[in-house]
Amino acid sequence: MNLTNNEEAQFTLNNVPESADNWLNIMSVENVSEALQFHKSFPEYKVTPLTKLENLAGYLGIDSLYVKDESFRFGLNAFKVLGGSYAIAKYISKQTGIPVSELDYISLSSPETQAKVGQTTFYTATDGNHGRGIAWSANKLGQKSVVRMPHGSSEIRRRNIAKYGADVTIEDLNYDDCVKLANDQAKADPKGVLVQDQAFRGYTDIPAWIMTGYGTLALEADRQMIADGCDYPTHIFVQAGVGSLAGAVVGYFANKYKDHHPTMCVVEAGPANCIFRSAKKADGKMVRVRGKLDTIMAGLACGQVNPIGWDILRNHAAGFASCPDWMSAMGTRIYGVPLDGDKRIISGESGSVTMGYLWTIMMDPDFKDVKEALGLNEKSRVLLVSTEGNTDPVRFREVVWNGLYGIRHRGEAPIK
Ligand SMILES: Cc1ncc(COP(=O)(O)O)c(C=O)c1O
Repeated sequence: MNLTNNEEAQFTLNNVPESADNWLNIMSVENVSEALQFHKSFPEYKVTPLTKLENLAGYLGIDSLYVKDESFRFGLNAFKVLGGSYAIAKYISKQTGIPVSELDYISLSSPETQAKVGQTTFYTATDGNHGRGIAWSANKLGQKSVVRMPHGSSEIRRRNIAKYGADVTIEDLNYDDCVKLANDQAKADPKGVLVQDQAFRGYTDIPAWIMTGYGTLALEADRQMIADGCDYPTHIFVQAGVGSLAGAVVGYFANKYKDHHPTMCVVEAGPANCIFRSAKKADGKMVRVRGKLDTIMAGLACGQVNPIGWDILRNHAAGFASCPDWMSAMGTRIYGVPLDGDKRIISGESGSVTMGYLWTIMMDPDFKDVKEALGLNEKSRVLLVSTEGNTDPVRFREVVWNGLYGIRHRGEAPIK
């Protein structure tokens, strides 16, 4: 099949040989329900909105379009805290022998639990959102955190982490090398624990717990769609950096809807498209992308796939896309200036790329083959996750006010 592939946007259907699928169970409805139960114990917990963009759905020629808006998560402007907070709870549960179902926010932050666990320092590497979630959770639970950020990270994002008492620095390293640095530093600290969304040999518990924690947003969205009278989404587009979020969302829906699960497409930033490249190679092995990974989609700038996420995606995702920065900028503007009657959503660079991609494949005749390959039509009920709000407000205004990345380099999709 001659699917649209060019330097800017690329797509491949999933032709990767299946594995034994041993990781799917971490996203079982039962495991994810336990994570949701834990998250509910935080005073800040509220179900984030599932916004239905009815007029845009009609415009794009699909039945319905739902957007899970994670800018409202715990007042932190991104979904990421769901993973770090749950992983810390699971770690403390393992240390203390208290089942996580009995560990809520109150008991975790109590002096008795703190005395049992002792002072722990949680180390991590981050583009911003994950580190903010770790720093916030550690602070709430009376623990310490150390956060390492890659070169090019924004000072605003660094300050947003530092305000929770974390030791946070921007390093002259890319994301993957920051993970290595955080790991080395955690190992050298007798009270150090690495909380990373990236698994490697001998390090799988914490990344798996992080993914189960992300499941909260999928479970909420599933329930919200059902409450709205929509049985389940026919299509989901989910963005990926290391692929933990994508693995979590795809894994939850694959577990819940089994044989008739939605057609799910993973969307990455072109300069960091390690999952797309792994899928394209189609031999089951993971491809690493090295170098600066320059993209405005800071949260997606990861060159190495999380093997746990990859294992779920290779078995259950339908397609993989790699997108240029202008698609994310376009998504931000579509969300920010909606059609009359639709609600506005504030979506940052990593949050908005799936909207830009959906718009492009539905509207640009050059992408007709992708649209057909994914079976998108007037009956489709599509779910997107806007994973962050304007976590970098200056960049956000540059995109919206100054039209940064406004020029589409190809295609003449009509504005109706
Ligand atoms: C806003 C946002 N969206 C999506 C992602 C991608 O998540 P993952 O790295 O698990 O693929 C990130 C990761 O940091 C992020 O910050």
